[in-house]
Amino acid sequence: MSTVSVLFVCLGNICRSPTAHAVFQQIVNAQELGSKIQVDSAGTGDWHLGHAPDARSTATAAERGYDLSDLRSRLVTSADFTQFDYIIAMDTSNLSNLQVMRPSEFSGELELFLNYTAKERYSDYTEVPDPYLGGADGFELVLDMIEDASLGLLNHIKAHIQQSDMAGG
Ligand code: 4NP
Repeated sequence: MSTVSVLFVCLGNICRSPTAHAVFQQIVNAQELGSKIQVDSAGTGDWHLGHAPDARSTATAAERGYDLSDLRSRLVTSADFTQFDYIIAMDTSNLSNLQVMRPSEFSGELELFLNYTAKERYSDYTEVPDPYLGGADGFELVLDMIEDASLGLLNHIKAHIQQSDMAGG
């Protein structure tokens, strides 16, 4: 089975993308795919470099059994396009910033995270909304969306891995 790498990107890398990083990693581990799928997260903004995730994200995630405490904010760089196969943006602003950075030779997937959601209830949303300046409800919604889109993304990646293994790639 081929190995793949996934990078989640938001603005500050302290709320949405570290939550996606921890949730997706936990699902990957639960399916015993940890040696096949590498996971990381980064931000397009540099205000929180080296900082742990926002306490509200950490607490909301911890209530559902996800541990964000070891993660630290870092900037997304053009080198990430060489290293990662899937670069997953939380919102359309993150996506536009990434599209500007994208080298022409990047052959992976650069997509909005909610493109992988399976649930009808999120069909009104195209993006994981920035919870930073809002209330507690925003953090719960972000986590709900991330749990759902993580399952969809993992199924998508597994289907691609199977296809490329069958093609001998
Ligand atoms: P995130 O949330 O992009 O989900 O990490 C934000 C965190 C910090 C800021 C904005 C969004 N900020 O402006 O500092």
